[in-house]
Amino acid sequence: MSAGTRATAPPAKRPAITLSKLAEKKALGEPIVMVTAYDYPSAQVAEAAGVDVALVGDSGAMTVLGYPSTVPVSIDEMLMLAGAVRRGLSTPLLVGDLPFGSYEVSNEQAVATAQRFVKEAGCDAVKLERGGVVAERAAAIVAAGIPVMGHVGLTPQTATALGGYRSQGRTADRAMQVVEDALALQEAGCFAIVFEAVPSELTEAVMPRIEIPVIGIGAGPSTDGQVLVFHDLLGIYDGHAARFVKRYGSIREAMIKGVEAYAADVRDRHYPAPEHGYTMAPDEVARLKELLAEH
Ligand code: KIV
Repeated sequence: MSAGTRATAPPAKRPAITLSKLAEKKALGEPIVMVTAYDYPSAQVAEAAGVDVALVGDSGAMTVLGYPSTVPVSIDEMLMLAGAVRRGLSTPLLVGDLPFGSYEVSNEQAVATAQRFVKEAGCDAVKLERGGVVAERAAAIVAAGIPVMGHVGLTPQTATALGGYRSQGRTADRAMQVVEDALALQEAGCFAIVFEAVPSELTEAVMPRIEIPVIGIGAGPSTDGQVLVFHDLLGIYDGHAARFVKRYGSIREAMIKGVEAYAADVRDRHYPAPEHGYTMAPDEVARLKELLAEH
């Protein structure tokens, strides 16, 4: 270091986000930022961007595993994704999505699956979809000491029964079903609830009744926070994008351009250039040629 230069202080490490921090944010009216992550690099991006909650969503079934819906993804596949995210993340709260069929049958099944997400993948909390009997499963997991995030409105795991990937609660009677699910999950001890694809008016009407943080995705502006799917918001995924998606990047295009440029360089023999290679001392090259000639 020369005279006059000063060491730059390393960036201050943010304290890890806890459940009480999220509750405090709700109380203070500070928006909560949640994003999905499915692997080590996306976790590192979530960490560096300073989000509050990273969700290993079962949307990863579609965005990174190529399934046609979230339904086929297995517990082991989700655990592999969640473990990779854990290794790339230290500050945001890490929530793992329990996949379809891994928690509905009984409280014992729900607790056993949730425990795997905590023990094997290092998740801080789990998420499950719907109210009704699922609220009982949520209560059992909470009683086992694992924090649970609920999810109401459009619940993709049961989209077929809901008439497809469409907004929910658009009549007063159907809206009351969403409200009842949300209240049941709150009663079950969930620390937060995702509201997906419901009318903004429904969210606004029910918010005064919900004491835990509500994270919206297509639920209007009156929630305590927002979540978007990583691949949707960055423009990585080439599938259908829902109305609520706002794109903040065109990474897929940038990636295609990058790989096309690499392919062109290889075909034109512009890559590799001398600076990309390793060298041998000239006497070693001469000796190698002799050895090859004798071989
Ligand atoms: O799986 C997922 O990505 C989700 C979010 C959309 C909330 O459940």
